[in-house]
Amino acid sequence: MSWFPEHKTGQSWIHRVCQRILKTGPIPRHVAFIMDGNRRFAVKKHMERAEGHFKGFDKLAETLEWCLDVGVTEVTVYAFSIENFKRSKDEVDCLMELARQKFARLMQEKELIQKHQVCVRVLGNLTMLPMDIQELIAECVHFSKDNKRAVLNVCFAYTSRDEICAAMREVAEGVQLGLIKESDVSEDLMEKCLYTSQSPHPDLLIRTSGEVRLSDFLLWQTSYSCLSFVEVLWPEFSIWHLYGAILHYQRNFPVIKSAIDSDLSDRLRRQRESDHNVVLSESGSQVPSISLACQVQQYARLREARIEQFLHHVNSKRLCYFQELVSRKKAVGV
Ligand code: FPP
Ligand code: MG
Repeated sequence: MSWFPEHKTGQSWIHRVCQRILKTGPIPRHVAFIMDGNRRFAVKKHMERAEGHFKGFDKLAETLEWCLDVGVTEVTVYAFSIENFKRSKDEVDCLMELARQKFARLMQEKELIQKHQVCVRVLGNLTMLPMDIQELIAECVHFSKDNKRAVLNVCFAYTSRDEICAAMREVAEGVQLGLIKESDVSEDLMEKCLYTSQSPHPDLLIRTSGEVRLSDFLLWQTSYSCLSFVEVLWPEFSIWHLYGAILHYQRNFPVIKSAIDSDLSDRLRRQRESDHNVVLSESGSQVPSISLACQVQQYARLREARIEQFLHHVNSKRLCYFQELVSRKKAVGV
């Protein structure tokens, strides 16, 4: 099965009516999925484990179409956790083979990616993957990077704690190289060093299979997300479960929105206080208040410029990693 539909699959009138009703309320821009329950599904249906994962991929493709139709423009999926490397060799090999096939297929269907204008990003500690899969991923990411209609983030060889450690290493290196100062380190800066730096935080996170935990997925990014735990195995997830989760989001929207707004204003206040304290500590205690305000403003501009340069450095490194893999694949001619 393809990642994206070649032709639109027909929707029944009842789907269309429900979709219209949902669209009168706030639609989450970004939905994250923990696609759990593939193996239990396989056992239930007397299938091989591998088939359960392949059915899981088919469900992902269907879900992407439902999301696009209802107006969700960004989807993030937990496709392979770093913890999954601890599973049996057979199962890890099977999941790698699934990825190999599906990323290769994605590249055979370039016109579908272009038609749907989907930007595919793969987030995680990619160096843990076999080299041929890294190359395939790099090709997909590079090919689709300028697409603007929708974004699909595939978390692969990912855990949130590993992502946060990687961001901390970037920040520590920036301080060590003198690109940024210790006082520049803030929640905003950390966020911009996460793999998800290009994305808004998920508005809604859906986990299937009835498990009610996050399993090290997007821990930083889901502080203010609406969480929906669905009692169905991933391959059994239906459009009605998606609509139910969106309805749950709409019911909780006012409370979530006010929490996000209050967090944003807190962050701005903390940043102003930090700039103020740095200027005071650098210029001594006796600065006239008018001149202090100007100095703080000037300092904030310099800090922003410094951080912009640092982030440029971080993003260039990531870009180089992908570009090298793409060139390598071309050179080998696979
Ligand atoms: C969790 O179910 C699912 C996974 C570990 C793999 C999810 C992967 C896909 C749905 C395919 C995505 C592939 C690509 C290339 C994007 P589980 O194995 O934990 O099942 P269980 O909870 O029943 O044991
Ligand atoms: Mg599981």
